[in-house]
Amino acid sequence: MWRLTWKFWISLAIFSIGYACQTKKNEMKISKDMEIYSNDPHSYSRPEEAVTEHIDLDLKVDFKSKLIAGTATLTISKKPGVNRIFLDTKDLRILDVKNDLGESLKYKLGEEDSILGAALTIDLNGHERKISIRYTTGEQAEALQWLNPEQTADKTDPFLFSQSQAILARSWIPLQDSPGIRCTYNAKVEVPKGMMALMSAENPQEINDSGIYHFSMPQPIPSYLMALAVGKVEFARIGDRTGVYAEPGMLKRSVEEFSEMEDMLMIAEQLYGPYQWGRYDLIVLPPSFPFGGMENPRITFATPTILAGDKSLTSLVAHELAHSWSGNLVTNATWNDFWLNEGFTVYFEYRIMEALKGRDYAEMLSSLSLQGLLDEVDLFMKSGKENATKLKLDLAGANPDDGVTAIAYDKGYFFLRRLEEYVGREKFDEFLNLYFSKHAFKSNHTEAFLVFLKEHLFEKNEIKPIEDLNEWVYDSGLPSSLPAVDSKRFKRVDAAISQWIQNDYAFDVSNWSSHEWVHFIKNLPKDLSAESMQKLDEKFDFTNSGNAEILGVWFVHCSRKLYEPSLEAMSNFLIRTGRRKFLMPVYEELVKSGEGRKIAKEIYAKARPNYHFVASSSLDRLLK
Ligand code: BES
Ligand code: ZN
Repeated sequence: MWRLTWKFWISLAIFSIGYACQTKKNEMKISKDMEIYSNDPHSYSRPEEAVTEHIDLDLKVDFKSKLIAGTATLTISKKPGVNRIFLDTKDLRILDVKNDLGESLKYKLGEEDSILGAALTIDLNGHERKISIRYTTGEQAEALQWLNPEQTADKTDPFLFSQSQAILARSWIPLQDSPGIRCTYNAKVEVPKGMMALMSAENPQEINDSGIYHFSMPQPIPSYLMALAVGKVEFARIGDRTGVYAEPGMLKRSVEEFSEMEDMLMIAEQLYGPYQWGRYDLIVLPPSFPFGGMENPRITFATPTILAGDKSLTSLVAHELAHSWSGNLVTNATWNDFWLNEGFTVYFEYRIMEALKGRDYAEMLSSLSLQGLLDEVDLFMKSGKENATKLKLDLAGANPDDGVTAIAYDKGYFFLRRLEEYVGREKFDEFLNLYFSKHAFKSNHTEAFLVFLKEHLFEKNEIKPIEDLNEWVYDSGLPSSLPAVDSKRFKRVDAAISQWIQNDYAFDVSNWSSHEWVHFIKNLPKDLSAESMQKLDEKFDFTNSGNAEILGVWFVHCSRKLYEPSLEAMSNFLIRTGRRKFLMPVYEELVKSGEGRKIAKEIYAKARPNYHFVASSSLDRLLK
């Protein structure tokens, strides 16, 4: 019933916009880009009627109650005649809503949907430019993770961080939570004295005495890039525009690990145009952060699991930095277009790494992508989920998290690589430069990208489009024009694996990076016996590696055979680390046997309090 009314209103709105556009051109503040707004199945907002241009936040962070309380003041631009606005909320307690004149506005919270949350409908009196919503977050605020001191590196102070992507911003701010809508924001945030607050905005570099911090994000961003971290962190400079925040005990290691950040920034600019966000900093979060990295503008949020000690995992920084163009500057209009964010970013990431470390290095990354992609496609096809292998997704009714697979990342990457190889790098780079500059601070649908591609890559250069263009984007599986990867370094690893299988251990590993080790371990025979694992441990001690990528793939083998000598280390790893990418494959392997399932449940009982919602919600499903 609700859906029917919703659809009806949307159609009516679209119809009336069309009408209004013709008759009242001058009154329209919302631009003709508005078609791109509609059709976001993951937001209650109706941008055809009204959009948010700016948000002022006045927030207080309370570690005792684990709540954020305050006011969000939205500056809105609405169509003439529109007398209400729809916002997204999840588990928020709304206290009151006022307009710029201080008049109370009527509002209604709709029914709570387990994925989308509840629509907040606010009646407008007619003339308001601003609406102020006083609220507190709920106990379950899904974006937020509140950590006790023991869950941090230094164990002295509590910590809070947010993770808004994909649709969790609504659990800490009432807003139009759709990537097709962008706004600027300012914030005043009060935190306990002695702590620093950081946002996806202009940031402080020192802890102040008042505990009150002011932020400004003058470039319009989509809601999923709203971010906040609060902790006892310190800042250290890397280059003129780059630096790292970390807990004091981690700061030195962090600065060393990320010393290439300034170079990466310059390489990225040389490739695809000026960096538009001022500074590029990174904060090292506690290990429960559920992702490797999150591209919050001006300050990437990162997992400490990339502190390998040898800079071998910094391609993740290149990835998050690349999002400053693909994603943050040119944004997927809906989560069905997620590949526009991630596929472009993986492509860009590998180009940065190629410029920094050479083609051989970047080809290792591509090769890991290819293997991940082939495995994922195979898995989806076998389990009857062909649709999940399409670049353009249809996630209506599903959680946008379901779209976070190797398809968006790696099929997206190989599609762009295919285009590059077809037209040549020079023309492709020229095209990408134009793509980023023409769409800067805008959101884009897959369809609009294809139109732009045809015009500016093919027609302009008088090149016939690739024949399987639509197949790449709209079909399941992988087109036969999937590019080949040629990794010389991995060929040596493959040779080493063959040698090892023959019980010959005399291969040279002295120059191996994390990537070579990951490739080696991943490609060991699937039926590796416990005895073989023991031999490998004697020689390489994988079980006690300090490198999370190595542990992540090694423990998959161990969990398959419940390899006893690794179980304690595995359990510690699963409890300490909250990064979903490492957790899922190990738990998935464990639950395949009865005994393994028991072990998985025991570990999970201890680990769950340490996981962020995005990790625990995936694992709850697996271990229910
Ligand atoms: N933006 C993503 C993380 C994300 C995606 C969060 C979808 C929520 C929903 C980020 O840029 C990312 O892709 N992180 C990867 C690292 C990367 C090197 C592939 C990760 O966390 O593993
Ligand atoms: Zn990404």
